[in-house]
Amino acid sequence: MPKQPSRPTIISDPHAMTAWAEQQRNASRRIGVVPTMGALHAGHVSLVERSCQECDATVLTIFVNPTQFGPHEDFQKYPRTLEADLAAIAHLLVEVAFCPTTSAMYPPDHATRVEVAGPAMPWEGAHRPGHFSGVATIVLKLFEIVRPQVAYFGQKDYQQTLVVRRMVEDLNVPVELVICPTLREADGLAMSSRNAYLSTESRQKALRLSQALNLAQERFRAGARDAAKLRAEMLALFTDVPGAQVDYVALVDPTSLAEVADLSETTVALLAVRVDGTRLIDNARLGA
Ligand code: PAJ
Repeated sequence: MPKQPSRPTIISDPHAMTAWAEQQRNASRRIGVVPTMGALHAGHVSLVERSCQECDATVLTIFVNPTQFGPHEDFQKYPRTLEADLAAIAHLLVEVAFCPTTSAMYPPDHATRVEVAGPAMPWEGAHRPGHFSGVATIVLKLFEIVRPQVAYFGQKDYQQTLVVRRMVEDLNVPVELVICPTLREADGLAMSSRNAYLSTESRQKALRLSQALNLAQERFRAGARDAAKLRAEMLALFTDVPGAQVDYVALVDPTSLAEVADLSETTVALLAVRVDGTRLIDNARLGA
């Protein structure tokens, strides 16, 4: 009989997590893992749903990973909402929520970091030194602890998907990566845990990100092929927005992340903008 949705077992000890996952593998169950930092929204839930559809056992990981935050970033104030997170997935059959403590993941003598070059270098990598090293380190640790057959990530963090893929290929990690589409609010704003920081007024300003991506797709559909011209038009959307500070707007090759001169179907528009102090990122393929 299929199991009914129920509250997942919460595991906080990495060794207990490994032991549980090993039992599943021994029973020939396919394990899907969904790594998150919690503060779940419908975007996260869509990843969990996909894992539940495709795997025999889904492990949701919730861990606000200190090593991927810069010294002046929002690690301290990042929302921690475990009860609401469990409620958000209560309708699904998530078998385990793995919620380790910081000291379990990074004991005082922890001394190893994973450094990815290549796709981790530009854009987010340049603006957030050390960020992708922190991401690669925690994702590899989660993969080692759970040893899932499949792992689910969101297109919302486009560069992160390339960094994780590079690491998995370079280090021969036996996991299949599934990249899921970005979920948006009705008005186009990409769902993000950091949207919780936005006041009503800031949220209005934040709409410019998805508007810039829509503009890029529309211009491409209408025949625009000059990347520099399109980039200038996208940037212009932020010039009259008080409190909006653009980190980058870029039209890039989908694999190398190098800026392109001529736009094509596969070109990805990437942007990062601080809106009244909240840093937001978004992206879209031009030939969506
Ligand atoms: P977090 O920001 O919590 O995101 C967890 C996963 O949800 C990521 O794969 C992210 O791309 C995906 N996601 C976020 N917003 C989404 C949206 N609007 N639609 C679809 N998917 C979305 O990304 C991280 O955490 C961390 O860096 C992590 C990989 C967990 C390592 O700490």
